[in-house]
Amino acid sequence: MPPAALAIIAVVVVIGIIALIARGGDEPVASVAAAEPVIPAISEEDIAAAAEQLGPRDQELVSIGETGVSINRAGGGRKYVALTFDDGPGPDTPAVLAELKKLDVPATFFVIGRNVKENPQVLNQVVAAGHEVGVHTWNHPDLTTLTPKEQESEIASTAGEIVAVTGMASRLFRAPYGSVNPAVLKRAEDAKLLSVLWDVDTVDWTRPSTEQIVQTAVANAGPGSIILMHDGGGNRASTVAAIPKIVSQLRAKGYEFATVGDLVISDPPGSDDMSSDSRSTQQ
Ligand code: NI
Repeated sequence: MPPAALAIIAVVVVIGIIALIARGGDEPVASVAAAEPVIPAISEEDIAAAAEQLGPRDQELVSIGETGVSINRAGGGRKYVALTFDDGPGPDTPAVLAELKKLDVPATFFVIGRNVKENPQVLNQVVAAGHEVGVHTWNHPDLTTLTPKEQESEIASTAGEIVAVTGMASRLFRAPYGSVNPAVLKRAEDAKLLSVLWDVDTVDWTRPSTEQIVQTAVANAGPGSIILMHDGGGNRASTVAAIPKIVSQLRAKGYEFATVGDLVISDPPGSDDMSSDSRSTQQ
């Protein structure tokens, strides 16, 4: 090979190497980022600390309940009610959020921990829309059948997941099936959560018609009512369709809407509005 050809090859190789280095120089941000391990934004310790930390409103909320009781409704001094949705976040939650947004109604969502893990972005939509979030356990068991350690784990894991996803701690708790006993209520208190049940059950999980859901909610609601519905656990099309009718009919009767926390803080429940036993079974 003549020296000139060797020189040309050498130049081509050098240019090639320079080009490769230059290309590499453009890309390390993406490749390094892709290779980086996913570091949680909040550490386990921070999550536990946040779940324990009480702001002034949290303090007020947690101190509303007496020892060993659940709140079934607010005091009844104001024509406000709270819509509550259990068992999400799930596929029907965005439709529920869309209805609430159209109506400008705040609500409270009692979420299942494992569903939060699967649908974190849906929970963030719930929080971004200004709704309140409560703990509804990780696996939705009947807590009264579990050991104290299992009860604690069901509650703490869900409370921690809510903090991990939203950066905010929940101070509300609703036992699956409304099934409580002194041990379960003690676990909630230990986790600094106010146990909240309901006084109006739409039994929407039994798949009644939209009209039946509306009728049950509107006929049974009174000042301070906490109305139980579901955004998870199955197809919730009837519940979604019921929301605007419930809201317009209750508004026509002079009611306004608040989250559970705002409802009970603005109109504290009396002893008659609390209970230490289980509610009727529900999903
Ligand atoms: Ni439930």
